[in-house]
Amino acid sequence: MKPMFTIEDLQQLVVDRLIQEARRIGQTQPVNLYQPIEYTLNMGGKRLRPAMLLMACDLFGGDVDQALNAAVAVEVFHNFTLLHDDIMDLADIRRNQPAVHKKYNENVAILSGDAMSIMAYQYLLKTESPAIQKITQLFSKTAMEVCEGQQYDMDFENQTSVSINDYLEMIRLKTAVLIAGSFKMGAQLAMAPDADADRIYGFGISLGLAFQLQDDLLDVFAEQVKFGKKTGGDILANKKTFLLLKALELANPEQKVQLNHWLNRKDFNPQEKIAAVKKIYTELNLQEISRQKSDEYYQSALKELQAVEAEINRKEPLILLAKTIMKREH
Ligand code: IPE
Ligand code: IPE
Ligand code: MG
Ligand code: MG
Ligand code: MG
Repeated sequence: MKPMFTIEDLQQLVVDRLIQEARRIGQTQPVNLYQPIEYTLNMGGKRLRPAMLLMACDLFGGDVDQALNAAVAVEVFHNFTLLHDDIMDLADIRRNQPAVHKKYNENVAILSGDAMSIMAYQYLLKTESPAIQKITQLFSKTAMEVCEGQQYDMDFENQTSVSINDYLEMIRLKTAVLIAGSFKMGAQLAMAPDADADRIYGFGISLGLAFQLQDDLLDVFAEQVKFGKKTGGDILANKKTFLLLKALELANPEQKVQLNHWLNRKDFNPQEKIAAVKKIYTELNLQEISRQKSDEYYQSALKELQAVEAEINRKEPLILLAKTIMKREH
């Protein structure tokens, strides 16, 4: 089998291609549709999902160059979701820069986002593979599930009886399926057996759940400049995160009164609300409890990867990527 690529090699491949595409897109008319897309694609980001797709393709001996358009497709799709997500979450900063709806305006972010979701299909369909129909079906199913997850996320802001299982299902949909789908699309491009494509999907789901648990933790406890997003946004929006749901479960009567007070209050000083809720999270040791929960999913992910039929040394980059994700600060 061919020698394997490193994560850095794969991310570089993706970044080079994205920059080239961004430049081309930015020269297209109308400017107010395409320039925000150029801005977004040049904004950076960890480029995890395309790297995951290429890594899975490489794991099963596929041709990474042939998979590059599909990798670009998942990254463009992911970036589209961020444009709309920042409108929905009233988030002004992304990757330490103004979110598209702030740099331009909301209508621009809506339409440029729509265009990006279409572009994602255009990139995907440039892929030459006997598995293209199967891959496009998986991509469409995944994209629809992300919408479902995003709607649950919004619905839960106004619901009081959200369970931890509801939360886990919501983050499976909004976040984990795109990570899992990226791995599986890479496996399918390499013509891996269905059973292995499903196993690497399972690895992606568990890793994706760990990833979103961590994102929610970082939203409260990260250093804002490293995180690249405004911290405390989830608290302000009454997002039903693991932290909040667990806090409601573990709170003493006084803390419960406090939490409910902040959840129901309509007029408040944002910094005051963030500080008050964060204080309760800290008193309840939720940073640690949440980290443990995320670690449980990370451990299951590793087990699922073990079950994938491939040489152990070929799995090293995936294990390394999972480890790096678990240590992330942004
Ligand atoms: C942000 O994803 C959205 C979530 C699913 C939490 P990333 O943390 O992968 O964002 P970028 O692309 O690296 O900025
Ligand atoms: C994002 O969840 C999921 C999608 C964008 C589909 P978040 O709303 O937590 O993501 P961030 O924190 O804004 O990146
Ligand atoms: Mg958000
Ligand atoms: Mg959101
Ligand atoms: Mg978040």
